[in-house]
Amino acid sequence: MSGFIPRTFVNELLARVDIVDVIERRLALKKTGKNYSACCPFHNEKTPSFSVSPDKQFFHCFGCGISGNAVGFIMEYDGQGFVESVETLAQDMGIEVVYEENQAPKQDPIKHLFPVMQQVSNYYQQQLKSNPQAKIAVEYLKKRGLSGQIAKQYGIGYAPDGWQNLIQLSIPSEDLEKDLIDSGMLIKNDKGRVYDRFRDRIMFPIRNRRGQTIGFGGRIIDQGEPKYLNSPETRLFHKGSELYGLYEMRQQRQKIEKILVVEGYMDVVALAQFGIQNAAATLGTATSSEHLNSLFRICPTIVLCFDGDKAGKKAAIRAIENALSLLKDTREIRIMFLPDGEDPDSMVRKIGTDAFNQGVNEAITLFDFLIQHLTSQVDMNTFEGPAKLVHLALPFSRAIVDPILKTRFDHQLSLLSGVSEQQIQSILQKDQPAQQPAISKAPVPTRHSPQSNNVAHKSISPDRNKETTKQKGPFRRAICLLLQNPEALPAANLDWVKSLDDPGAKIFSKLCQLILQNEAVTTGMLIENWRDQPEETALKRLANQDLLLNDEQIAAELPDLLAQLEKSLLLEQWDNLIAKSKLQPLSAQEKQQLKSLQSQIATRG
Ligand code: CTP
Ligand code: MN
Repeated sequence: MSGFIPRTFVNELLARVDIVDVIERRLALKKTGKNYSACCPFHNEKTPSFSVSPDKQFFHCFGCGISGNAVGFIMEYDGQGFVESVETLAQDMGIEVVYEENQAPKQDPIKHLFPVMQQVSNYYQQQLKSNPQAKIAVEYLKKRGLSGQIAKQYGIGYAPDGWQNLIQLSIPSEDLEKDLIDSGMLIKNDKGRVYDRFRDRIMFPIRNRRGQTIGFGGRIIDQGEPKYLNSPETRLFHKGSELYGLYEMRQQRQKIEKILVVEGYMDVVALAQFGIQNAAATLGTATSSEHLNSLFRICPTIVLCFDGDKAGKKAAIRAIENALSLLKDTREIRIMFLPDGEDPDSMVRKIGTDAFNQGVNEAITLFDFLIQHLTSQVDMNTFEGPAKLVHLALPFSRAIVDPILKTRFDHQLSLLSGVSEQQIQSILQKDQPAQQPAISKAPVPTRHSPQSNNVAHKSISPDRNKETTKQKGPFRRAICLLLQNPEALPAANLDWVKSLDDPGAKIFSKLCQLILQNEAVTTGMLIENWRDQPEETALKRLANQDLLLNDEQIAAELPDLLAQLEKSLLLEQWDNLIAKSKLQPLSAQEKQQLKSLQSQIATRG
């Protein structure tokens, strides 16, 4: 029976296996240059976009976005858990697995939560039918035009008022209170008191691809704040990658030709009520590349639906930033803007199914909208306008990965600006890296997420929040370079990084430590150390980012980049002390620090 496997063993194992061997036993690989390729085993495709890098010991599919090391491959391919996959891998290599002593066999950390969530969902649905309190909720749903059939299809329920409803349910569980806390259904306050998160709300269960309930959105009945309360980030529920309504859409068992991405729960159910069953909603976050990737696995066309107002345009641009790297000439994103003040729910009720569908069919393509948006920001009749256009468009051009689309975009840009394509290429290549990418790949918060002043903030986990700042942090590029080429770690003294209170610096520091401690370090092995951590997705993204640099160029860039970082951080500390000194006299220690900073800055030129 399997037990807990120490990280050091996994690192050693990963240093000894070759991911190419591991995958080749299961899949025919073809050598293409430095890497190997195949048709992706995790999504349907005819031309190979699955690539295995022996250098990085990492696989990545450019089509569906999946990536990982040898353990990750076995987990996905054989459909095994982590421990079993490590065991399989070790067995293949004839290595005996080392288990942590005195460690009880590790149980699957989330499997037992699914039946608990299912029972909670059943309870809420039951309450909507039978609880006298639910009458107002039923009335409200009727007023909004929802039929009983749709309510049933989407499992809509009612959470009664009261603080201790869930704990009293007879749900089989070893520790119900813990399970309900772990799944986000109960809140434990500072005083240790435990109570129901959702009270007197209409409940929309959020189901994963397999139909398992992983979270809920709770709408207040009629007016009040916060209008929606959502499950927090839990081990079951990751807002940034889940879509509401996807499971129900696929249950229709109809061929899905395109998917409509909308903002709200009510939009999805209202559209379904009107026979438009191909809509899914992001859950109060911007459309991320994870969202788009899962949707592209289902069909090649996605229509993003936004308000026609300024905020809607802005949200569209953010979605485009997340989408450009995923687009291919076989995939299409279109954008549908609704009249000011309307959402898909209100719109379909106003104009009906046919007219709504017609609007969907007439949605503007992503590139047409992008060009329109860029040209609208400059005055093309002035001398400077076209030049400015090129400047604005470059970050977008750079983000496009598909060569055909990239050529098309640059060509269009050249036609509009009068700058030759050749020249555009040379500008693109010239000011490549060193600086921060002009557009971020980080999930962008929308008006409902923590940065805006909305009461629903509390329901969004601080982890995602941290992830956003971290990805934009000054260490992002250094992490990317080092992750992809661990040998490039310079011999320089990097102690200064350790003292920084920056999430990126912490990751960078840990990377350095892992590289120094382990032999034959690869990207795949480094990433392993963040398995199931909030940073994992972001790090995988960095591991797959195409740097367009060879190993020597990476090795050359990293020391410079670190020197720049160190200097800017020294300057920042110095600035802070100077600013402080203007408000109050500095302590002797601070004066000393100022002096030392001054001389350190001076020696760095
Ligand atoms: N949302 C949220 N928290 C809020 C408000 C909104 O998480 N306080 C999310 C919900 O997923 C919601 C979506 O953003 O469904 C869109 O918000 P909004 O347009 O305000 O709600 P609708 O879905 O249109 O709901 P309704 O029609 O009932 O007002
Ligand atoms: Mn609405």
